Amino acid sequence: MLDFKDQVVIVTGSGSPKGIGKTIAAKFARQGATVIIADMNEEGIKDAVQSIESEGGKAFGVNLNVTDKESVDKMVETVMDKFGRIDVLVNNAGISQKVTVEDMTYDDMYRIFNVNVFGLILCTQAVLRPMKKAGYGRIVSLSSVSGKRGGGVFGGAHYSASKAAVLGFSKNLAREVSEFGITTNCVCPGLINTEIWKSLPKELADKVIDGIPMGRPGETDEVASAIVFLASKEASYITGEEIDINGGSHMD
Ligand SMILES: NC(=O)c1ccc[n+]([C@@H]2O[C@H](COP(=O)([O-])OP(=O)(O)OC[C@H]3O[C@@H](n4cnc5c(N)ncnc54)[C@H](O)[C@@H]3O)[C@@H](O)[C@H]2O)c1
Repeated sequence: MLDFKDQVVIVTGSGSPKGIGKTIAAKFARQGATVIIADMNEEGIKDAVQSIESEGGKAFGVNLNVTDKESVDKMVETVMDKFGRIDVLVNNAGISQKVTVEDMTYDDMYRIFNVNVFGLILCTQAVLRPMKKAGYGRIVSLSSVSGKRGGGVFGGAHYSASKAAVLGFSKNLAREVSEFGITTNCVCPGLINTEIWKSLPKELADKVIDGIPMGRPGETDEVASAIVFLASKEASYITGEEIDINGGSHMD
């Protein structure tokens, strides 16, 4: 068990009822962290907080729109006022859209980049000050296999481009903040067994599975395990890195 006792961990997008974020938050809570459930889904926030508390864990819900700087700054202020520290930020909030490049509108591109890139940068900026002051911080961002080799099953090229941008941002940031005791890493999940996967017609699902050496989609818990490790004190000499979690569907 990795020790997060006394640590405060923010997980954006953790109010998704069946998403990866909720599992990440639950896993941190089981390792002793106080977890901030930060999302724009009010019902989802309540549900995630209750679910952690019912297991004896510590969670606190905050309404957050990652694309709104005021909302992001307010979240960090609320967390600092209430808990006095932010040890970990998991940039998990993200959106996707299946559309061809030909059919993509400017609004489509802007919407995807606004959440997946600009929102992620806003959240990261906001935690840097308290982390620098503490001389310690862990930032883990959700990229995707599609940011490395292109996607196409659930997302368009704008989604892939946004997830590639997350990798570049994280690496550059690693160069800036290493001297302050802050590490910044990414995970690149392949297809994960969430609602979107379950919505795939069987014929297409079988085709996708054919391309995965492990012959199955990943579980949200398998993504959460890698994130918790990267966010731990034990991962002290790992920064600017990315971990593929894709059952072997892409190796580099
Ligand atoms: N599911 C997969 O197979 C898969 C694969 C690779 C990468 N990812 C990435 O993992 C992350 C989580 O994916 P998921 O499948 O759990 O998604 P999801 O749709 O289940 O959850 C995303 C959450 O983000 C929240 N969110 C969206 N916009 C927001 C905003 N502006 N401000 C605050 N919260 C916002 C939503 O309310 C939702 O709760 C995403 O970044 C996604 O791109 C997912």
